[in-house]
Amino acid sequence: TPARLVIDPHFAVGPINRRLFGSFVEHLGRCVYDGIYEPGHPSADEHGYRTDVIDLVRELGVSTIRYPGGNFVSGYRWEDGVGPVDERPRRLDLAWHSTETNEVGLDEFAVWLGKVGSEMMYAVNLGTRGVQEALDVLEYANIRSGTALSDQRVANGTPEPHNVRMWCLGNEMDGPWQLGHGTALGYAELASKTARAMRQIDPDLELVVCGSSGAQMPTFGTWERVVLEQTYDDVDFISCHAYYEPVDGDYGSFLASAVNMDRFIDSVVATADHVKAVRGSDKTINISFDEWNVWYQSRYHDVDRITAVDKWPVAPRLLEDTYSVLDAVVFGNLMISLIRHADRVTAASLAQLVNVIAPIMTEPGGPAWRQTTFYPFAVTSRLARGVTLELKLDCPTYQTAQYGEVPLVDAVATCDAESGETSVFLVNRSLEEDIDIDIDVRLLGDIELGTVQSLWDEDIHATNTLHNPHRVGLRANESARLESGTVRVTLPRASWTALTLA
Ligand code: AHR
Repeated sequence: TPARLVIDPHFAVGPINRRLFGSFVEHLGRCVYDGIYEPGHPSADEHGYRTDVIDLVRELGVSTIRYPGGNFVSGYRWEDGVGPVDERPRRLDLAWHSTETNEVGLDEFAVWLGKVGSEMMYAVNLGTRGVQEALDVLEYANIRSGTALSDQRVANGTPEPHNVRMWCLGNEMDGPWQLGHGTALGYAELASKTARAMRQIDPDLELVVCGSSGAQMPTFGTWERVVLEQTYDDVDFISCHAYYEPVDGDYGSFLASAVNMDRFIDSVVATADHVKAVRGSDKTINISFDEWNVWYQSRYHDVDRITAVDKWPVAPRLLEDTYSVLDAVVFGNLMISLIRHADRVTAASLAQLVNVIAPIMTEPGGPAWRQTTFYPFAVTSRLARGVTLELKLDCPTYQTAQYGEVPLVDAVATCDAESGETSVFLVNRSLEEDIDIDIDVRLLGDIELGTVQSLWDEDIHATNTLHNPHRVGLRANESARLESGTVRVTLPRASWTALTLA
């Protein structure tokens, strides 16, 4: 029997915030240098930005972009990256054991954001720095003029304030690898003081406090509770970070990674709402899922990591994972999980954007190309508009070593009142079997089937590379039919699908 899905436009989970389709540019490896910025490249514009990369970022459909880190930010002095470029210091970047040249900083990054049409989300350093430096960068970025730091920005060639709305209060401060890592309480007190001080400049800022850098962290749960107990009235979001990779070739569990993401989100929501209840507060804290992706972290630890005390390369090749079809299916499913929780996950950042665990790759002096993961992101960002719908899904299950019994199919549907379009995103997690699914669309009224596209391949390990950049792409799914109010579509084994109805 086929799997069954019922779509009812009358019941919405919540509106889909465009900020769910954010990404992340960190000063890490070749994300900035030799990624978005390569002055000598044939496609470089007058600012040194690669226009081929700009075109791909626009095609990807990225809303907010988090900057400048990541682990990098916990040792970063933002002042190093402003003013005359030839006077900027070169610094040790302890997080990635590299040399930071500071050729690109806040003002340059804002110029690039203007070209790609994205919003800045800025992280302050609460690792080696504190309240004063956060206030300074806020004054530099957002005050129009008439004070030392705002006038400095004007003198540096940026007359208009950047008007950054979203600010991260540090990065992954629960992680022992983080510069300045300490206890939950220690961090929470600093985050609270910083948030309150920043709000004295602008009470309407949207502030993100650090949650856990993964649901597997030993302090997970307690960290969120302690941090929110201290900062509940001061912040708007708590962050979640999650990365997935297959462990010992267990692709069954890997394909179910979104189950873990669902549980992670539900746990953080429960913890935030617990603190809300204890305080008797009317305010709701939402989630900024500001790092998520497939990341072969084991490879970074085994191969990429630089540790020699006399070796501090500029923009080394770090975390340059090549993504397969299988990775893209898992990735598409993670987006389904985020959209399913649109009522509480109101911002998210794909980590990262270019070269570093990225949907877009570049070769110095050479081409830029789309990884397999580019496709589910671009399509979901384009089609997932309006509201997320509540769904009823009936399908077979399978056993996983990591998450127990889980559904073989996962899906989410969105409905956009403005365009009248409904979109459905589906994955088949089976490694062996194609699955037919019947989607009951009678409640949508008189509609027609639009495009049906799938990402799948005979070879689940197929990738796009410098020498074969178009090996994997989207395929029209010819199996889809709409008859008597039911869409029947075959989901190929290990596949991701997006279909539209209007
Ligand atoms: O995205 C790569 C790294 O992963 C980030 O710098 C850090 O925040 C996380 O651990």
